[in-house]
Amino acid sequence: LNNGLGLTPAMGWNSWNKYGCNINEQVIKSNAKRMLDLGLDRLGYKYLNIDDCWLLANRDANNHIIVDPIKFPKGMKEMGDFLHSQGLKFGLYNSAGTMTCQRLAGGLTYEQVDALDYASWGVDYFKYDNCYNLDLPGPMRYNAMRDALAKSGRQVYYSLCSWGTDDVWQWGNQTGNSWRTTGDIRNEWKSVVSNYQTNDLHPESAGPGGWNDPDMLEIGNGGLSDSEERSHFALWAFAKAPLIIGCDLTSVKTSSLNILKNKNLIAINQDPLGLQATCILNCVSDIHVIGAQQNGYFAAMVMNWNDDLPQAITLDFALMGASTSINAACKVTDLWSNQPIGTFVGFLNTPVIQPHDNTAYKIVCDAAQ
Ligand code: GLA
Repeated sequence: LNNGLGLTPAMGWNSWNKYGCNINEQVIKSNAKRMLDLGLDRLGYKYLNIDDCWLLANRDANNHIIVDPIKFPKGMKEMGDFLHSQGLKFGLYNSAGTMTCQRLAGGLTYEQVDALDYASWGVDYFKYDNCYNLDLPGPMRYNAMRDALAKSGRQVYYSLCSWGTDDVWQWGNQTGNSWRTTGDIRNEWKSVVSNYQTNDLHPESAGPGGWNDPDMLEIGNGGLSDSEERSHFALWAFAKAPLIIGCDLTSVKTSSLNILKNKNLIAINQDPLGLQATCILNCVSDIHVIGAQQNGYFAAMVMNWNDDLPQAITLDFALMGASTSINAACKVTDLWSNQPIGTFVGFLNTPVIQPHDNTAYKIVCDAAQ
């Protein structure tokens, strides 16, 4: 969407994966404070997004949404001011239907009044879900809110929670800054894999201003092994997916936090060229090379999808487009250890990669001789 936002994928935090409807002012503010204490904001995680369950089921007499007075007694303007005072950005949620997925007041037909309320509260990011949509076409429902947000005069990152319906990859980038390509992620590896694979079908739709969205991160929620958390993060980073943390930051374990803080992978996610990486080598086997050109280097990750077998492979630089000459010397850095691993000509043999784990490389080749 050409609204000046989402030139790189959004980075932030959202309440849903961890808390569901068990949210309130304290939960949100304590996670916001931890974003700062843990230095996540300085790495680019700026959006603090409140998902479903912040509002009541009915509207007031003038059709305004009513903020849940028990969960958020001070209202949403106070929340927006608080987040802005911390240097964060404020995200909110509703559904392009008659109700949210938790059966609270939906946004359909109320786009104008809602967009003005959101703007007056200082909302910077708006996630618009797909529940109770009366089977009306996606573009119509989502464009109505796009236009209302534009008219509100506030710049708002617009996240379509469109679940891959209505061929959203064909119109998403006219309508939003990102669009969900999948159903909801669950806190288990097979869901991470299936959301990644579905999100991988239309990489050409993504680019600066609009991104494919395979849903929010489950890192830190306890359902994935360390290998799986590393792969979840690398796959999302390489896919140029929005990086929206979904765990309790007040108790996140160090290994998960270190994954979320990997600067090399964040740099790939936030690369200005904005090319969604996809499988480029070995794609019929279960050890894939996933890669794309970045601004000034080539990035490749080797993903071992096999459930049981440790595997290694040979990375052929020429086939990857990492070099135009088979004689070029390529300097390779391991993105996980942040260590240079050497200079290679033509190819590199990876170490053995454990099931569900990956290695990831930055590859810089000399100009062709
Ligand atoms: C849908 C969305 C989720 C979440 C819930 C909230 O399932 O896809 O991301 O927002 O609704 O009810």
